[in-house]
Amino acid sequence: MGSSLFFLALFALSAVAKADTSSGLTMNFYKESCPQAEDIIREQVKLLYKRHKNTAFSWIRNIFHDCAVQSCDASLLLDSTRKTLSEKETDRSFGMRNFRYLEEIKDAVERECPGVVSCADILVLSARDGIVAAGGPTIALKTGRRDGRKSRAEVVEKFLPDHNESISSVLEKFGAMGIDIAGVVALLGAHSVGRTHCVKLVHRLYPEVDPALNPDHVPHMLKKCYDPIPDPKAVQYVRNDRGTPMKLDNNYYRNILDNKGLLMVDHELAHDPRTRPYVKKMAKSQDYFFEHFARAITLLSENNPLTGENGEIRRHCNLSNKNHYDE
Ligand code: HEM
Ligand SMILES: *[C@@H]1O[C@H](CO)[C@@H](O)[C@H](O)[C@H]1NC(C)=O
Ligand SMILES: *[C@@H]1O[C@H](CO)[C@@H](O)[C@H](O)[C@H]1NC(C)=O
Repeated sequence: MGSSLFFLALFALSAVAKADTSSGLTMNFYKESCPQAEDIIREQVKLLYKRHKNTAFSWIRNIFHDCAVQSCDASLLLDSTRKTLSEKETDRSFGMRNFRYLEEIKDAVERECPGVVSCADILVLSARDGIVAAGGPTIALKTGRRDGRKSRAEVVEKFLPDHNESISSVLEKFGAMGIDIAGVVALLGAHSVGRTHCVKLVHRLYPEVDPALNPDHVPHMLKKCYDPIPDPKAVQYVRNDRGTPMKLDNNYYRNILDNKGLLMVDHELAHDPRTRPYVKKMAKSQDYFFEHFARAITLLSENNPLTGENGEIRRHCNLSNKNHYDE
């Protein structure tokens, strides 16, 4: 009797230890409840990519802006309510696009299994499939995240670095999620696709051109950003990687070593003694970049998720199930 109690206690203890060290997520969480979920998402991401290539870039940016802010809980996707401004309407989210197409993916999943698959998992899986569409690595990611009920603009700046933030502060913010220096350098490689609006660049061009910029890159930037105070409504931007703008590849690292990084953080990444050695290695080897990118995306995707009975499964990704009527 005594010994079986002992084993029961041991069992309970090991279960606690296990819950402590893992995120509570599992591979193929919807295996029983919605076996088609991952296929449907992959199919939708592919269809959308055919219509608009830049949807893939949005999915890649989404995983950063959702998961790095407290939790991968799809709080990024919520609309503002009458009382609170949401995360996607803050300055850090400037330029984010294609949210309505994420809603199309959600609708396709809902048609097959209503009320089962969270927006948080759809956000993460669409990022994974977007990475593949853009030519990046295939990454096995866990599921089982649940959706948060609130989105708060006030916390965003605490978690998401600004375009001109110091490398120390960037490393600290990612370090808090367990992402090391090689991981940070790899994640910034996402700036190998997509665009940056002139509002985030003009301070490097006017009143004087930042002498750190490669002079060969400046005429192009000035041509695209001809207005020292860009009209925020006008769509004026520079492509992040002029060489292979649509491909997630290691050309980003060659660009930043060549002083063609658009944002201050991109530039600093290539020059800070802590990050430069990894930048050089990733510039040389796409495999090395992909290996660390996959590892860091996995860590990012497992940052502090809501699981079990926490949170909810939202019906529409932009609205929490109950709050939108009374808030
Ligand atoms: C220090 C960290 C980072 C900073 C300060 C930063 C900042 C920015 C800024 C200012 C833009 C331009 C937005 C615009 O003008 O439209 C941008 C674009 C983008 N960022 Fe980041 N970012 C960071 C890290 C990341 C990470 C970790 C990822 C993903 C793994 C990511 C993915 C992207 C993508 C894909 C775009 C292009 C989006 C598009 O074309 O729609 N960024 N980022
Ligand atoms: C970074 O840029 C913003 C404008 O986007 C500016 O308000 C802020 O003062 C800058 N911060 C630093 C540290 O230069
Ligand atoms: C939220 O999403 C629903 C369903 O996709 C859509 O009808 C509605 O317009 C969205 N709400 C806002 C405020 O954009």
